[in-house]
Amino acid sequence: MTAPSPNHAARAATLVTFQLNGEPVTVAAPPHWTLVEVLRYQLNLTGTKQGCDKGDCGACTVRVDGAPVLACMTLAVLVQGRSVETVEGLGVGGEPHPLQRTFAELGAAQCGFCTPGMLMSASAYLDDLATRDAPTVDAVEISAVLGGNLCRCTGYTKIVQAVAVAAREVVERAQTLAEMSNDEAML
Ligand code: FES
Ligand code: FES
Repeated sequence: MTAPSPNHAARAATLVTFQLNGEPVTVAAPPHWTLVEVLRYQLNLTGTKQGCDKGDCGACTVRVDGAPVLACMTLAVLVQGRSVETVEGLGVGGEPHPLQRTFAELGAAQCGFCTPGMLMSASAYLDDLATRDAPTVDAVEISAVLGGNLCRCTGYTKIVQAVAVAAREVVERAQTLAEMSNDEAML
């Protein structure tokens, strides 16, 4: 996939301000540019991949206000005032996100092209899991969560396993917190 030409980019631009991985940014985006174009060609954040560029592969998945979104199908002007997270913002304080650790430990990435999109879809799932009353880990649910993210290398088994391991850590943490709050209630 090639970058838009400078002439193409120079058409009337609109200022768009949004939170990007927790920091405010303002870009002058041509109104027809998509979010993946702005991320990759204006902000040099190339972690978000531009695969099919037509909504089929999920390689461009980022999170907008927490939800997984296809950046190739989202006009950049539509993220005005919103919060965008990309794979570059996934780890915290120099530490990899648990999903990045489990993907590495289990060999869930081969060429790695699909991996950023997988991680963003899976991170939204983990955050949702953490809000549930009695979370459980279900491989069928994980496969459904990743249903829009295509991988031509791995056969998906390792990817689902890596997400499941990270999800079990979320569940264990939730159980520990619940036990601590029960203990406090009994004091
Ligand atoms: S690049 Fe966006 S879905 Fe394929
Ligand atoms: S690891 Fe190559 S496309 Fe998924």
